[in-house]
Formats: sequence, structure tokens, C-alpha cells
Amino acid sequence: MEISSILCVRLSLKQRYFLLLCIGALAIVAYQITRDHPQRARMKRVEGLRANSSQFSLEKQPFRILGGSVHYFRVPRTYWEDRLLKMKACGINTLTTYVPWNLHEPERGVFDFEDDLDLEAYLRIAASLGLWVILRPGPYICAEWDFGGLPSWLLRDQNMKLRTTYSGFTDAVNSFFDELIKKVTPYQYSQGGPIIAVQVENEYGSYAKDDKYMPFIKEALLSRGITELLLTSDNKDGLKLGGVKGEALETINFQRLDINEVKYLNEIQPQKPKMVMEFWSGWFDLWGGLHHVFPAEDMISVVKEVLKLNMSINMYMFHGGTNFGFMNGAFAVGLPAPEPMVTSYDYDAPLSEAGDYTTKYHLLRNLFSSYHNQPLPELPPTQERRAYQSVVVQQHLSLWDSLHSTEKPFKSERPINMENLPVNNNNGQSYGYTLYETVITSGGTLNSKNNIRDRALVFVDKQYVGVLDYKVQELVIPDGKGSRTLGLLVENCGRVNYGTTLDEQRKGLVGDVELNSNVLRGFIIHSLDMKPGFVNSLQTTGSWVPMQQQPSFPAFFQGKLYVNSSPKDTFIKLSGWTKGVVFINGRNLGRYWSIGPQQTLYVPGPWLHKGDNQVVVFEEQEADGKLQFISSPDYGMTVDVQ
Ligand SMILES: *[C@@H]1O[C@H](CO)[C@@H](O)[C@H](O)[C@H]1NC(C)=O
Ligand SMILES: *[C@@H]1O[C@H](CO)[C@@H](O)[C@H](O)[C@H]1NC(C)=O
Repeated sequence: MEISSILCVRLSLKQRYFLLLCIGALAIVAYQITRDHPQRARMKRVEGLRANSSQFSLEKQPFRILGGSVHYFRVPRTYWEDRLLKMKACGINTLTTYVPWNLHEPERGVFDFEDDLDLEAYLRIAASLGLWVILRPGPYICAEWDFGGLPSWLLRDQNMKLRTTYSGFTDAVNSFFDELIKKVTPYQYSQGGPIIAVQVENEYGSYAKDDKYMPFIKEALLSRGITELLLTSDNKDGLKLGGVKGEALETINFQRLDINEVKYLNEIQPQKPKMVMEFWSGWFDLWGGLHHVFPAEDMISVVKEVLKLNMSINMYMFHGGTNFGFMNGAFAVGLPAPEPMVTSYDYDAPLSEAGDYTTKYHLLRNLFSSYHNQPLPELPPTQERRAYQSVVVQQHLSLWDSLHSTEKPFKSERPINMENLPVNNNNGQSYGYTLYETVITSGGTLNSKNNIRDRALVFVDKQYVGVLDYKVQELVIPDGKGSRTLGLLVENCGRVNYGTTLDEQRKGLVGDVELNSNVLRGFIIHSLDMKPGFVNSLQTTGSWVPMQQQPSFPAFFQGKLYVNSSPKDTFIKLSGWTKGVVFINGRNLGRYWSIGPQQTLYVPGPWLHKGDNQVVVFEEQEADGKLQFISSPDYGMTVDVQ
């Protein structure tokens, strides 16, 4: 039958041709949509995740969540599919992920959901592998992530009350959720997508400063079109105050099973499915501490007990990844001062930082396989790794000579914390180092008045004098003639991500510093957030000096890593270096620090290219002439989590 006769019209040859073209174009669009949203092709949706009895049901069938956390923002995008395939092959049926507000809205009203932050692409990969998703959009996420994922520009408001219904906070949440939620609603189960549940905030019971806040977040999700099951997640101390009673299923977080906690959950929520939202498969590490391990046998025996209780479980983490850049959080609960977390987020998880199978992985796969009717998929191959030839450092550039590559310095009578500096389109400085300079006319005792967040290298006329931090708050400045420049290079070592002190996470100099009991005034402030643009622009400064000349510290060092075939993963080892940051091809791999425990930094192969790769190291104190590459990580001396 002719098209024209269906339409009951007479069409010219040209018109017919045009009509055929339109139909063809429509077919291509339809194909694209179903290709990008494979689950959408399955238009008939039965019924999503329900929590109406002691067991979950999904599509009207009893369902047990065997979940695993993998954070897209801790894994190079090229490896998302690899990590999720390995997850699927372990018998996990549900991916859980947080959403880091600080990365998605780096400046107020400026949103980034591209490249390594393309959450939609991540959800599509999960869907294409047949993984369900539990989304944990925060806005606060804890996660051992700087400031629990909150953007630091929130702290420009001196009255800010985070995680409350203070309008300065709720306005910011509303505008972030306006962007975020519309991106994820099409990926909900009811729309043909993989998202079967959405978490309301995160461990709010341990914060609990405003009882109107959780209902506000719940409404913020519902009013923007979230239709799937809502959950909350709390540790045992938070369970009492967390939750939005009756409106979201409460879940629990733990590492060791305490039957009383499960009983308690059952009491406050009878005839509901029980879930461990965060079963801590390992633990995080702090600089200056030891590397935590949770023995595989101990881990698997808890998982077995949890499953025996008919509970659902989510492995936090299934694969930890890396705190690239300056994204590590800090821990402060019960400590005299906050202690920053290391760069690796290996977490002693079943899949290692570089995506290797571990004993935990194999034990878990073995256990989970008995919860599936079909055999699990074959194990995907592991990534190859290389111990590349050492890089010989060729040149150095002193910190002082790098300063023209920063934004214009700012003059201020009083010290100003980094978040309130007029940089980054008036969003302040979020991460990295800030240099405060002022003129002094005498020596004497420099007293930080505990206003340094978190650590400062002190210089007089660019000569290193000492370090000030939480422990050391006084330093003797040697006498000298005339006017001299006092420099305080203050490092934000990472904001606290958990506990009740979130409102106090401003960094840099947060108050006056005194010399001989006189407050210092008249500062020139340089913001050194060391973004890729800054690191790349260092290349064009003419002030690099060959290594034959002694460097003065702190300084940038550069060399070339030559890769002669397709790039592989590797680990950079910095023996002989003390403390700093490594950049490869402009990408910030994170901090290193000789105090450990971590001794190596993960270098993902996809961030290298064939030929010469530019390596830049910012070192505070002491450099070696070379950088070594090894094929296995060194996370340092271990200690059992208990
Ligand atoms: C199950 O719970 C959902 C809300 O989670 C509700 O909308 C639905 O009506 C309930 N179904 C039954 C059979 O109780
Ligand atoms: C777990 O579920 C099974 C099947 O419904 C039931 O026979 C068993 O008693 C349950 N176990 C516990 C500890 O609730």
C-alpha cells in the first residue's frame, strides 16, 4: 500500500521523498532513545520497589537488595563500565551512589554534569548491565568527602546553618535540586529506568539540629517528581532521631552485627523490610595513622549472618576508588583537632582502588551466587598495569615565581578566610593553599591563636621558619633588620565530613594572628587553588630552572613520563619527597605525605597518553631527583579495624 493512499492525499514525488525522510529520521531518533535508555525500551512497568511487608517486593515479586556502592566521582569515567561489570559478576543486583553537590555546583548557579560528572551516563551504564540503582542525592553525603559534599561557597554567609531550614541553606538546596532532580527523574523505575529508591538526606539522626529539615528534603524530592520508594539511612546512634516517620523506610548502617540494633529497627518499624544501607566492608585511613583492614573472613561472616536474618544489604564500599584532587574529608569526632583523610579510598573494599579482585570479592561472589537462580557472569578481565621507568625531574619553579599565574592578589587589613576571598567570580576559594603575606618590623613570638585551618608553612622573606598547625600554635620569628615579609602558606587539608561542626569548616586564616601579642594587619592574600588552568599556565612562565641549580622550597617540579604503547594503570611512588600534590597532564592525582600510611598514588591509564606525559609535583619541603612508578599500591602498615 502506498503512503499517499493511507493518508488519502496525493503527494508529489518530492513530497513523498520528504515524508520518507521524516519517517527515517523518526526511526533513528527512536533507535537512539532506546539505545541510550535500554530499560526504557521495556515500556511495560509493573510495580517498583515496595516495602509493605517484612520483605521488599519488586515487580510484585519478593526481592532482596544485594547492593554495592561505587561512586562515579571517585572512578575515571573510562572505568565506570569495568567496575560495574565486575560488580554484576559478583552477584550484586543494585548499585548505590551518592551525588556530590560540591563538584556539580562548583560556583553558585554554575552546574557541571559533564565528562567525569555525567551522572546520566553512569545511570545508563547501570541500566544497560541490568543493575538497579538506589540514588543518594544528599544534599549532604558524608562519604569521607570534603565537607560531606557541601559546596564551600555556602560558608560565605556568616550566619549559615547547614542542614537546617535556614533559608540561606534551603534556597541553595532548592536551586541545586532544580538542576539535579530533573536529570534523574527520567531514570526512575516508573519511567522505565533503573532507579528503584531514593535516599532522603544522609544520617541526619546524628545531626538532628532541625526537626523541620527532613520533611523539607522529602518534599524537595517529591515536588520535583521523585516517585520511587524513599529511604533514610542512619547508624545506630542516629536511628532514634533520623527518618521521616512513616514516610520513608528507615535503614541501618554498621560493620559488626549487633542483634539488639536489628531488634530495635524492628520495634520502631515492624512488618517492614530490614536493610543495612551501609555495611562497612572496610574503613578509611587518616594521614599519620595506619591502613585499616577488615579481614575477609570477618567480613563474610557478618554478611552471612545479615542474609540469614532475611535482611537486604549494601556493601559500602563495593569499590572505593580515589579521593582525587583535594576531595578528601577529615575526621574530628572525639579528637582534639580534625585529622585529614588520605587520598586513596581503597577502603579495603572487595574491588580494590585500581579495580583488582580481592579475597573479599571471591568470597562474596561465592556467597551471592547461591542467591541467584542463574550462574553469575564470567569474571571480566583485570586491567594490565605497568611499572614505568622513573621520571627524572628536569626543572623546578619556586612557589614565589608561580604567583603571577594565580588570580590577582587581594589586599585586606584583616585576615580573610579562603571561602570569603573575592576570587572565582565571588564564590571564594574552595580548596588548596592560600598565601597570606604581611610586613613585620621585628622578630618575636608568632601566635596563631588557633586561627590556622589547617596547617601553615611560615616564611620570613621567603625563608622557611617553621610550621603552625593545631598542635603547634607558637613559633619564634628570628630578629632581623628593617621591614620584612612574613608569609603564611595555609593549606586546607580537607573539611570535616561528619559530626556537628559543619558550620565551622571555614579554612585559611579564620581570625587574627599575633606577633608579640600585637595583631597582624595589612595582608596581601594569594589564592592557590591549583586548578588545571593554573597548572597548565605554569608551563608558559619562563622562570623554570634546571635541576642543576638547588631549588628553594616550596616549589613545583616537572618531568616527563614517556609511554611507548597504549597507556596502562600505574602507581607513583614518592620516596625522598615529603609532602605535596601530584599533577599528571594537568589532572590533580591528590596529596602525598611521607608520614603515611599511604605511600603511592593511583595513576589511571586513561589519564595518560602515548608519548610524553607532563608530570608536575608541588612539594613543600624536600624533593628527590626522580619519581618512581610501581605496579602495586603501598597503603602502609596495616591495623585491624577493631
Ligand atoms: C505499598 O506501599 C506503597 C507505598 O510504598 C503504596 O502506595 C501501596 O498502595 C502499597 N500497596 C499495598 C498492597 O499495600
Ligand atoms: C526468612 O524467610 C524465610 C522464608 O520466608 C522464613 O522461613 C524464615 O523464618 C525467615 N527467617 C527469619 C530469621 O526471619
